[in-house]
Amino acid sequence: MTAELKTTSGELGVEWKPVFDAVPRSAFLPDLIWRHDLATGDVSAIDRRADPDGWWAAAGANTPLVTQWDDGRHEGRERGRVATISSSMPSLVSAMLADLDVRPGQRVLEIGTGTGWNAGLLAHRLGAGSVVSVDVDEGAVKAARGRLARLGLVAEVVHGDGFAGYGPGAPYDRMVVTCGVRTLPFAWVEQTRPGGVVLVPWGTHFSSTEATARLVVAEDGLSAQGTFTRPVTFMRLRSQRLAHASYDTYVTEESREAARISTTSRTHREVFAGTYDVNRFVLGLRVPDCTYLADRPREGRRPVWLYSLSDRSWACVVHRDERTELTVHQSGPRSLWDEVEAAYEWWTERGRPGFGRLGLTVDGGGQRAWLDEPEGPI
Ligand SMILES: C[S@@+](CC[C@H](N)C(=O)[O-])C[C@H]1O[C@@H](n2cnc3c(N)ncnc32)[C@H](O)[C@@H]1O
Repeated sequence: MTAELKTTSGELGVEWKPVFDAVPRSAFLPDLIWRHDLATGDVSAIDRRADPDGWWAAAGANTPLVTQWDDGRHEGRERGRVATISSSMPSLVSAMLADLDVRPGQRVLEIGTGTGWNAGLLAHRLGAGSVVSVDVDEGAVKAARGRLARLGLVAEVVHGDGFAGYGPGAPYDRMVVTCGVRTLPFAWVEQTRPGGVVLVPWGTHFSSTEATARLVVAEDGLSAQGTFTRPVTFMRLRSQRLAHASYDTYVTEESREAARISTTSRTHREVFAGTYDVNRFVLGLRVPDCTYLADRPREGRRPVWLYSLSDRSWACVVHRDERTELTVHQSGPRSLWDEVEAAYEWWTERGRPGFGRLGLTVDGGGQRAWLDEPEGPI
């Protein structure tokens, strides 16, 4: 595990080595886990009672491990519909701890206790009375409390909605959020000290692509801002999940007949790229209230749907691997494909900025994403 952390992160200081040795991920995993292969999207169940070798191999691997589906309503070995708790990839856990940059004497609030592993690492590093962790899932809270106690670690694990932060423990020097957020609550800024850091996976409803925003709270405590450090995808904060956009509610016979037809020669890879590329993230910033759904590619063809979240506009393009002229269908008041192409061109004209040139400001008035400087709103 420690060797893996060195090779995958390289950023975490040596002071963390004894922490990872003393707080192993395996101590925070239930018997039944699902290994998530990020490359293929495949998920496989592993039960320690039936396959101890496989379980230990998974616990030591640099891969996310799902521990709950469908907010706990799902039972059995089969995968459920939505993964709702997981132990994140160890390389990501270590990278986020490096971004968080905690120092002895500081106090941390974690939103999203999950298995309790990250809270355990922080509690070992910072000591008793330094870590508060909130989770909306009561079962997760109970299990995490038990695991922490077995290792002799002291963290306050609270059952509640982390959207409100946790006022009774404020102010904190650091806040680390381990679920994906679309709208950042100002309470998180208010509960963090001036000069303190809020580290949060943030994105838009356009796609599951998120990036960790490292926001520093201003000296007057009235705002927080900073740039994005790395692409991620997290399980969404419970109240900010997007209900699945359903084809039937958008693509009626009438709206099909009214669709405007145009052409494009752009490939899917060129415009949307992969989950961890910056493309979908930027498109989401420039095309508000829109969600993108791509079917799995089949025989070089990939249908892409764009659905408006502000009305019933939709667009569809069936992309091909090779560059060729494609038909675009757009229906409703918005021309969503045109909006996406314009956003792509905007990004290209600015030299295809990566995550580090993009930033976020949060204050009492809401949140604003920007390019290069806070005065350059997107
Ligand atoms: C990826 S897991 C967190 C992993 C965890 N940090 C660990 O070390 O295992 C995401 C967690 O966020 C929690 N969560 C989702 N919405 C929440 C909310 N509104 N408030 C607090 N926790 C929430 C989920 O219940 C889940 O346990």
